[in-house]
Amino acid sequence: MINLDAIRAPIASDLEAFEEFVKSRFSSEGKLMSEMLTHTLSSRGKGLRPIIVMLTSALTSAANNRTWVAGERNCSMRTYLAAMMVEMLHTASLVHDDVIDQSDTRRGRPSANAMWQSRNAVVLGDYILARTMASGMESAQYDLVSHIIGSVATLCEGEVLQSQHSRDMDTTRQDYLEIIYKKTASLISVSASAGAVSVIAPRGDVEQMRRFGEALGMAFQIQDDILDYSRSAHTGKPANNDLRERKITLPLIEVLERCTPAERLQLLDRLSQCATDPAAVDYIQGVVENSGGMVMAARTMQTYVDRAIEIVSHYDDSPYRTALVNLCAYVAERDR
Ligand code: FPP
Ligand code: MG
Repeated sequence: MINLDAIRAPIASDLEAFEEFVKSRFSSEGKLMSEMLTHTLSSRGKGLRPIIVMLTSALTSAANNRTWVAGERNCSMRTYLAAMMVEMLHTASLVHDDVIDQSDTRRGRPSANAMWQSRNAVVLGDYILARTMASGMESAQYDLVSHIIGSVATLCEGEVLQSQHSRDMDTTRQDYLEIIYKKTASLISVSASAGAVSVIAPRGDVEQMRRFGEALGMAFQIQDDILDYSRSAHTGKPANNDLRERKITLPLIEVLERCTPAERLQLLDRLSQCATDPAAVDYIQGVVENSGGMVMAARTMQTYVDRAIEIVSHYDDSPYRTALVNLCAYVAERDR
């Protein structure tokens, strides 16, 4: 199993400095807002998006013959800014997502809405978004900020599209791929390309990193959706959350695509009961497991992982390229 610490190693000092950068920009006045911010910022998770920004900035900077000494890199302010913006947009989106999904936990800890009610959590998400935008504008790095900021609208489109399909229970493979692109892969893609933009890499590199991030992001979300069906996962979320939220994700789509019309009706009927009936959840979990839905979804995920690895393999060997390749393997193997 690939270790995330090994992936972080070539940019470890930058990541430490990045944490300080975030802290300096995300303090607040007022007891409740400070409490909510501290809680949310201290349970931010793996920080994959900042890792991606820093590794792609290093990779594309090296590819363009900038002075380079592995392990002695000094990240530019633009790279920290890009990392901070994508991380905080992600954080704000999850605060809102937990309100929308009425989710009580996030990464094994109480969600902001569980701690302080939805009405405060909505404002907290808005506040993080507002502070992120303000930091971006104050930096006057308008090219970088505008590169990143378009992803907010895409995230919103993804969330609403998902909601529409879970209401209608009509998610096809194509719908699913559009949803996961918009809600997850778009921001990971922007993270990877923003790394390149932050070091003023040529347009071709920015495009390659955009494609890399998109493929990695698709793989990341498919693995997330497989883990939701996996009872041994350590995601900090209860298993089968997606079924309870009536979300049709790839493991179930793989099964729906192969079953008879009668079996399909039976599965969709059970899915409509999942929000309130644990037996319906167990039924669909059993069918998906026994029909190989997770294994088939993992095959689709692997095609995205292969694509991402292929894109970075065109760059010269370096600790940054190795870390990005390992990150692809990590995304596919992770159980949390
Ligand atoms: C998690 O999905 C949700 C997202 C990745 C995107 C959420 C986006 C919004 C709420 C739009 C608002 C955006 C901003 C910037 C304020 P999930 O519910 O499938 O994942 P989970 O299981 O981790 O909750
Ligand atoms: Mg959710």
